[in-house]
Amino acid sequence: PLYNSMFGLSELEERIKSYFGLSQVIVVPGDSENSMQAKRELGKAAGQVLREALKPTDVVAVTGGTTIAQVANQLATSTALKSVRFVPARGGLGESHDYQANTIASTMAKRTGGQYRLLHVPDHLGEEAFASLMQEPNIQELVEVIRSARIVVHGIGDAMVMARRRKLEQAMVDEIAEEGALAEAFGYYFDRSGAVVHKMQTIGLRLDDIVKTEVVIAVAGGKDKGEAIAAVMRFGHNDVLVTDEAAALEIADLI
Ligand code: F6P
Repeated sequence: PLYNSMFGLSELEERIKSYFGLSQVIVVPGDSENSMQAKRELGKAAGQVLREALKPTDVVAVTGGTTIAQVANQLATSTALKSVRFVPARGGLGESHDYQANTIASTMAKRTGGQYRLLHVPDHLGEEAFASLMQEPNIQELVEVIRSARIVVHGIGDAMVMARRRKLEQAMVDEIAEEGALAEAFGYYFDRSGAVVHKMQTIGLRLDDIVKTEVVIAVAGGKDKGEAIAAVMRFGHNDVLVTDEAAALEIADLI
């Protein structure tokens, strides 16, 4: 590898930040894939970034996954954020209860004294179910709130790992693989260059919302996620990346 432990974490941060044109990069020590300690540190660092970015009447949209769950668990505020609203970024992405965006949004609200709203939408929505759900006034209203988020906090996964975790049908997994999907974030699958090759049919934030969101914070670590993280950074709409040393070394080798 071009980079090794002789390079300080701050040099890695600077290099990744300038290459992808991000406003902030934080690299915590270790490999969060093998170390719970590193994963907690990742969550804590991201929680600090979120707290510093928060304004009193913000809407914060969050995705699911084990990493963002750690952000929620490590989130702390000294004063209650009574008017901040936490919402899931998108509905039904096939996560188990503890790692669902709904659960994470409610945990964040409870830990900060803020508000939360839940979006109850099943996984694998067909066209018709999707269309009829979108007619529901309650859902329409909530989707408007979600789409107004000033801050998005999201995880990043390896495309094939996520396709399997979501129990997609084999034919769909093959199709996504053939399209060159390498990374997944907020229900969209990206190829190496950061182009979207597939999306999950569900309700909530859309890609054009992400593009317009003021503060987009990605939180992902682990050696095996290096390529996926680089792909999503190439998509080019993140402001902040919070990652770990193992992933950062992989990313630095790719850029
Ligand atoms: O399913 C929600 C999600 O945020 C995905 O978009 C992402 O790929 C994944 O979770 C990351 O999960 P983890 O942090 O557990 O690797």
